Amino acid sequence: MRTVTSDNITDTFINYFGPDTSPRTKELMASLATHLHQFVRETQLTHEEWRQALELLKWTGDMTSDERNEFVLLSDVLGVSSLVDMLHSDPKATNSSVLGPFHVLNSPDREYGADLKQQFEGEVILVEGVVKDTQGKLLAGAKVDIWQTAPNGMYSSQDPDQAIESFHGIFTTDEEGRYAFTTVRPVSYTVPSDGPVGVLLNATGRHPWRPSHLHYMVSAPGYRTLVTEVFPNDDPYLDQDTVFGVREDLVVPYHAKEAGSFPKTGFELSGKVNEAYSKIHFDAILINDGS
Ligand code: BEZ
Ligand code: FE
Repeated sequence: MRTVTSDNITDTFINYFGPDTSPRTKELMASLATHLHQFVRETQLTHEEWRQALELLKWTGDMTSDERNEFVLLSDVLGVSSLVDMLHSDPKATNSSVLGPFHVLNSPDREYGADLKQQFEGEVILVEGVVKDTQGKLLAGAKVDIWQTAPNGMYSSQDPDQAIESFHGIFTTDEEGRYAFTTVRPVSYTVPSDGPVGVLLNATGRHPWRPSHLHYMVSAPGYRTLVTEVFPNDDPYLDQDTVFGVREDLVVPYHAKEAGSFPKTGFELSGKVNEAYSKIHFDAILINDGS
């Protein structure tokens, strides 16, 4: 095509697809080119601006390793991860939310009522709930994989002073679909901002904070695995999460419980907690795989 112009370059691009391109690849690439070309036209993008954008992407790649995926973080702060989540949610099930970079494979299995707080300072919280399906059927034997930050705002993989299994654990629901554990009240924290994502946040006058949360990955045979987060309803960053992860059904109250009222049995900390604590309840509703 020797007569390619700023008006026909998008159509020309689409006409270059080879005969073996799958329909979905065609659809995705044609739409991407259409929006990208329109963005360049609309903003009258300059050489220098495009060079800077490509430099930022190169830096994103250079910073990405097995331990830290800066592209995922970029997708998170641009709102793309959350938008993909929202488009594939089912109103009858629990909303999903960002996975984040701190989930670890092979977390330790933990008993019903086990404690994740261990020796750390901070308020004890007792977390309980059930796993069920969209018809209300309680799911026995479901896996509830939990992870969170320590009170210093760091996940174990970021913190040389924590064992890797610290604040990580996989609970298996009992015959009535229940899980329960104790931990420490999570804290608000910042996403890594020492790379290109930090530069982008700075340039757009945004902060790197996330509201405090517990991460959940809930799985059961025959159901779609749910990756989500649970937020306290009094966190100051609830309405300004830098990765857009908060949904109404994921926000729960922390109920204050008086000193001396901790359950006498059933928990690893039974008999060991005399002070006031908080209780939260969170049920996970899974979507049948076939639906
Ligand atoms: C997190 O909650 O662990 C997280 C999510 C997205 C980006 C960075 C961290
Ligand atoms: Fe997190």
